[in-house]
Order: sequence, then C-alpha cells, then structure tokens
Amino acid sequence: MSRIPAGLQSRVMSAEQAARLITSGMTLGMSGFTLVGYPKAIPGALAASGHAKNLTLCTGASVGDDMDGVMAQAGIIKRRYSYQSNKSMRTLINDGSIGYIDMHLSHVPTFINRRMGGIHIDMAVIECAVITEEGLIPAASMGASDAFVRMADKVIVELNETIPLDIVGMHDVFEIGTPPHARPIPIVHPLDRIGVNFIPCPPEKIAAIVVTDRQDKSPSFTEPNEVSRVIGRNIVGFLRQEVEAGRLPENLLPLQSGVGAVANAVLQAFADGGFRDLTMYTETFQDSALDLLDRGIVLGATTCAVSFSEAAQKRFYGNLAAYREKLILRSQELSNNPEVIRRLGLISMNTPIEVDIYGNVNSTHIAGSAVMNGIGGSGDFTRNAALNIFATESIGKKGAISCIVPMVSHVDHTEHDTQIVVTEQGVADLRWKIPQERAELLIENCAHPDYRPMLRDYLAQARKTAKSQHTPHDLKQALSWHQRFLETGSMK
Ligand code: COA
Repeated sequence: MSRIPAGLQSRVMSAEQAARLITSGMTLGMSGFTLVGYPKAIPGALAASGHAKNLTLCTGASVGDDMDGVMAQAGIIKRRYSYQSNKSMRTLINDGSIGYIDMHLSHVPTFINRRMGGIHIDMAVIECAVITEEGLIPAASMGASDAFVRMADKVIVELNETIPLDIVGMHDVFEIGTPPHARPIPIVHPLDRIGVNFIPCPPEKIAAIVVTDRQDKSPSFTEPNEVSRVIGRNIVGFLRQEVEAGRLPENLLPLQSGVGAVANAVLQAFADGGFRDLTMYTETFQDSALDLLDRGIVLGATTCAVSFSEAAQKRFYGNLAAYREKLILRSQELSNNPEVIRRLGLISMNTPIEVDIYGNVNSTHIAGSAVMNGIGGSGDFTRNAALNIFATESIGKKGAISCIVPMVSHVDHTEHDTQIVVTEQGVADLRWKIPQERAELLIENCAHPDYRPMLRDYLAQARKTAKSQHTPHDLKQALSWHQRFLETGSMK
C-alpha cells in the first residue's frame, strides 16, 4: 500500500520548507494526545529557524518534549491551548511568558467547529500513517485532529513511515455537526463503530507533506509502589461491594481511567480483582490497560489515544492487526462526549492533586497559582459518569503535603460532582451525604493519620466560628495550610 497518492507526490518537501508556510501570529492546530501522534519535524524546524513568532498552539492534549519543549524554549509560542504536561512549557506558563487556557477536552473541538470566541485555525499540522484521496489516516491518537483539519485553511501532514500500515482500520471518525443541526451519536456499546476510518481532507487542502521516521517519546511509568497498590485494591474492594449489593453488574460498567502513574497503578489492581468481560470507554489507554486487554480481562476499548511505555509500545505495534479488533481510536469530541458518557454509564477514575473536606477537588493547581498539567478530560468524565472516583495518595512530597485539606486552593470539580474518594487509607463514599458527614468521612477514612488531628481541629474550629452550620468554614484558617506550605515547605 502506498502511503501517499500519486497526485500528491509533488507536495512532498523538507520540514524546513514546510515550516516556512507558517508565519508569525498564526493559530496552529497540531495533532497529539498523551504524548502520542504529535508532529516532530515541523516543531523542530520552527524552533530552529525562529522565523514564525507569537504563535498560538492548540493540541488535543499533551505532546512530547520534542514538540512542546522545543517550541516553548525557542520563545515562539504566545498562547497554548488546552492540556499540556511538559516541564519547559509549564515553567514558561507559570512565569507568565506563555498564556495558557485550560479547557475541558470535549470543549476544544466543539469550540473550533463553531469558531466559538472567534478561534480560527490557520494551519493544521497532523502526524499520519497514510494519506489517501479521501483523507488522512492518523497515528495512534485522534485528539482533536478531525476538527483541526475540518476548520483549518491549510494542512501540513507529517507522514511517519515507522507507523505500521496495520493501523489502517483502527480509527472511527464521525462528524457530529454543530447545533442546531448536530446529530445524535449512535454509540450504545464502547465497541460500536459508527463512522469512517479516516479524517476527511480534500487533497487541495494539503499544502505540504513531510516524510519522517521519528518515534514518539514514550512516557515512562514508575513501578507501582505499595501505596498505589493499596489504593488500587481499595477501589477494587469498593467496586466488589457495589456488585454484591446489586448496584453494579458483574462485569461493572465501561471504565474510564485517567493519566499518570497513580492511574496506571490503579488499573493494575483490576488484574487480581476477579472481574471478567470488562470494557473501557476512555481518553487514554496506558500500559496496565494493555495488560488487562492481553489477559482477556478487558474485552475491548474506545480510546482517544494509546500512551505506552517503550516496552508496551513495541508489543502494541508488533500486534496491531490483532489489537485493531479490540481497540477503537476516536476523537476527543466522541471519547469525551457527555452524551455518550451518560448513555454508557461509565465508571470514571481520575487522580486529583487535593480534595477538601467537603469533596471539592483540585486537579490542576499547586497552592492556588501554579498550574501542573490541566483539567484534561477529568471534568468531562466526572460530571457525566454513572459513578465517579477520585484516587490519590493521602500525602505528597514525603508527608509535607496533605492531599485532604480544609479548603482546596483551586476548584476543578465541585462537591456536587464528587462521589467517591479513595486513598491508601480507605474509601469515602460521599453520595447522599450532607457536608458535615462528608467532612467526617474524608477525615476518618481518607486523610493520613498524621494530618487527621489537624483536620479534626479545623472542623471543630469551623463549627465554632462559622455563622452557618451547613458547610462550616473558618475563612481565616481555610487556606492557611497552603500558605504554610509556601512559606515553610510543609503543611504541618
Ligand atoms: N500539592 C503539591 N504538589 C502535588 C500535590 C499536592 N497536593 N499532589 C501532587 N503533587 C505533585 C507531585 O509531588 C508531583 O510533583 P513532582 O513532579 O515535582 O514530583 C506531581 O504533582 C505529579 O504527581 P504524581 O504523584 O507523580 O501523580 P501522577 O503522575 O499520578 O499525576 C496529576 C497526578 C494530578 C498531576 C495528574 O493525574 C493530572 O494531571 N490530572 C489532571 C488531569 C486528569 O485528571 N486527566 C484525566 C482524564 S484522562
């Protein structure tokens, strides 16, 4: 199979030549999601030449250091949308050099499709495995690439020859349209295919094709430690109880699992949970999910991207034809779509930075001001899942931080959203609990024993000083733990 149609061969050029099509002030829609399927040659060429400045960079989600890192360090990015996890990018965002807008991932394609707020994509830059007369077959992530291609004036394709051709058939692309003419999404099972396997793109829209052989920089997952194993076991134990009580079916509901080391460790615990015939409807699919698929515990999954360590990546690409039967790659407009998440009735599992005694959750900011990564899909899934779980270690930074605090320093998920909080200490089931019951459950079941007395004292003091007893807070003390952490490096 040829990767480039004969009629488009004349548009093949070097990365340096293609980068010249990008000029200062442009808004770029680039592929990539959870460090997979992002362009590498064009970002490198842009960073090296520095001719295009003040760029607005929009991606599906996080991309590798050879994209976000090099472009940030070159000083050519003015604004960044919508989820990043790169150290250089984060540093420049937090020192005020780069503007960052952190959005729900399901909103990104919606905003682009409707040009909401005046956004216009000048150039889409998409990593692909194959170009056909009808369109583009992307790499192992979909992100918001379909919306970028649809709405961009022109498209530059990075054609990556290292992606096995067996990837053809793994994607499922469906155009929802825009209100008032948006179509219902006919997904009633995570493995339903509803669209075509390519991103439609008229050949005349393709301005340049750059052939590459650079591989994604894989994330590395730290081996789960005993604490994260216990968190995983606590979640599995809780879900088992729900099954026994008849509130969940034996094979649970489709699972969503978040990003990062804790999320990876949590999913590992499902291997010994005695569950069978599970499915996933998720935005990212990490190493432990691949293990569950290989062991037949998970039957199949929809995901927006795969995000594997080097070893798992080898396994995946070496057996693509088989995985194609069990994995569907969809854009974030579908993987994170509230309509589908509600219909399928997901169990969502995400990792917060901190949770307060009433169940408000901070997923994005350290001590109120410094952004870590972004909200990602955690809001899309949490608000709409049938059952949502937040799982974290009870302490961070070797005990200098309590992840259960009197008041969160930044709110991403409100108390109205949060249902279940899990730490290595235990489980707090907040459903149908009044605020004061929630506080007691979170302190006694989830907080670390070192911080429990301080939290009990705070609650007692709040009850004494607050004028209202519905959600008592001592406003003078509520954020004092964070202040102390900033001043002394410890919340204690
Ligand atoms: N206060 C200060 N720092 C904290 C903290 C807290 N309460 N909780 C975590 N951190 C720091 C850790 O110390 C670590 O910092 P370091 O890199 O300097 O060591 C960093 O945050 C990452 O924490 P880690 O424990 O390694 O967790 P992780 O890899 O599981 O990631 C999140 C945790 C919250 C950063 C990550 O899950 C995230 O970005 N979530 C938001 C998006 C989301 O939920 N997406 C899911 C939809 S798919």
